[in-house]
Amino acid sequence: MTSDPSPFSDRTVLLTGVGGDIGATYLSGLVQAGANVVATDLPGLGEAGRALTSAASDTGPGRAVFVECDITDEKGVRRAVDTAIGEFGHLDSVVNNAAIYRTLGGKRPLVELAEADWELVLRVNVVGTWQVIKAAAPHLAVTGQGRIVNIASVVSRNGAPGFAHYVASKAAVEGLTRSAARELGVDGTTVNSVSPGLVDDAATRELNSEEYLRTAAISRAIPRAMVPDDLVGAVMWLAGPTSGFVTGQTLIVDGGGVFA
Ligand SMILES: NC(=O)c1ccc[n+]([C@@H]2O[C@H](COP(=O)([O-])OP(=O)(O)OC[C@H]3O[C@@H](n4cnc5c(N)ncnc54)[C@H](O)[C@@H]3O)[C@@H](O)[C@H]2O)c1
Repeated sequence: MTSDPSPFSDRTVLLTGVGGDIGATYLSGLVQAGANVVATDLPGLGEAGRALTSAASDTGPGRAVFVECDITDEKGVRRAVDTAIGEFGHLDSVVNNAAIYRTLGGKRPLVELAEADWELVLRVNVVGTWQVIKAAAPHLAVTGQGRIVNIASVVSRNGAPGFAHYVASKAAVEGLTRSAARELGVDGTTVNSVSPGLVDDAATRELNSEEYLRTAAISRAIPRAMVPDDLVGAVMWLAGPTSGFVTGQTLIVDGGGVFA
């Protein structure tokens, strides 16, 4: 008896920001579901990125390759998209996960932020996300069932003291999602956001106190710490073939901390 093929077999996914805990978790989930993944992160993370993709490929059944790519660099982004086409023949889904988060450098009152802080965060989190969408969209259109999943954040609903520029950037990602959904729907491409709550990962622990994490955990309808694995199902559904009539939406995944 043969088992049903995975919805991700023969699907190619471009995943950015694989170097963080959450990106690495998406990579494992996708490869284990049979997807071929072009996984990217900043130039300089090449060795770590190749180790991640090689370990993920070993667990199969999908295969992953690593491409160094700064998402604000148009040529680098094009190289990542070309790798998807060259290695796997087509590009079906994009998970825009890369962002300035861990490297925010701590909480700062908005009156202490410099213009350069805003420019960097908006450039990477918003312009970089757009660059990836721009390069991928024509290839997604070829399949007629392209999927784009932009990782936003629940902080854009409630705000978060100390991160005004980051919060604004994630609100912009939601707006970009809705506009891209309107423009690309004609090609059968869906564009949605996933908004995670506070994930108990290395990045969050660098930026927040233990007490802050504990308060977030107990304020949820499901009162526990959130882990990267909690995001995988939602991201994979929106990146996969069965969500084809859902577009322009933001799916909050936070154990019921924020209802919107
Ligand atoms: N951790 C959380 O609690 C949380 C909550 C809500 C949303 N998010 C979002 O989830 C995503 C992953 O978060 P994380 O905790 O793994 O963060 P992280 O900072 O650890 O990982 C982000 C990754 O993006 C990469 N990156 C940064 N700038 C880049 C650029 N210019 N080009 C290419 N890659 C770049 C980094 O090198 C890093 O590997 C981010 O979009 C983040 O904003 C995280």
